[in-house]
Amino acid sequence: MSPRPLIIAIDGPSGAGKGTVARTLAARLGYTHVDTGAMYRAVAWMAGHKGVDLSDEDAVAVIADAAAFELGPEIRVDGHDITKAIRTPEMDAAAGMVARHPKVRQSLVRRQRAYAAQGGLVMEGRDIGTVVFPDADVKVFLDASADERARRRAHDPAHTASGQIEQVATALAERDRQDSTRKTSPLAMAGDAVRIDTTGMSVDQVVERVLTLVKP
Ligand code: DC
Repeated sequence: MSPRPLIIAIDGPSGAGKGTVARTLAARLGYTHVDTGAMYRAVAWMAGHKGVDLSDEDAVAVIADAAAFELGPEIRVDGHDITKAIRTPEMDAAAGMVARHPKVRQSLVRRQRAYAAQGGLVMEGRDIGTVVFPDADVKVFLDASADERARRRAHDPAHTASGQIEQVATALAERDRQDSTRKTSPLAMAGDAVRIDTTGMSVDQVVERVLTLVKP
């Protein structure tokens, strides 16, 4: 009998290494990888595309309900390839704004839960172990020092950074503050999550460490 497919929740602040680790882990296990941050970014992009005010919660929630997401190596929303367009400082801010709206979160959480029907899942975000899948089989909270996170973000080829590393660090700290203090589903570690400080660790080392927690 093949092992039961698991749900692996990976949360943590920006630049903690969630994306690379989650993608590598999913490939190793043959699981589906879902980057929920890309969903918030895609909704923010679509709002801009349609000229919808980001502070209009109801209108943005309608977009979140209706958007067709493709979350592969290329990110598409309703057929538009937004892979590059959503990784800019402007979209960092826009995604943070839409992620504050409870109705937008409800819509995306419902859609995130639906991925579990596909079998094994590695889902990364801010509220996966706390809200989306509180019963996830494995919960990991990835963290790293502020310096290291800023360095990684500044050197991330997928991301258009805002110049000097100091500016990246300041922008990152501000977004973490907003993500951690917002009223609805703030970034927080689940009580039963395993915290891994990835400072100075390679992707492979982190993946191996998470695999020790995976017992199908
Ligand atoms: O991980 P990221 O930087 O691509 O996330 C974009 C924004 O969406 C960021 O402000 C955090 C927010 N987010 C969230 O609130 N909940 C999630 N599950 C994923 C991302």
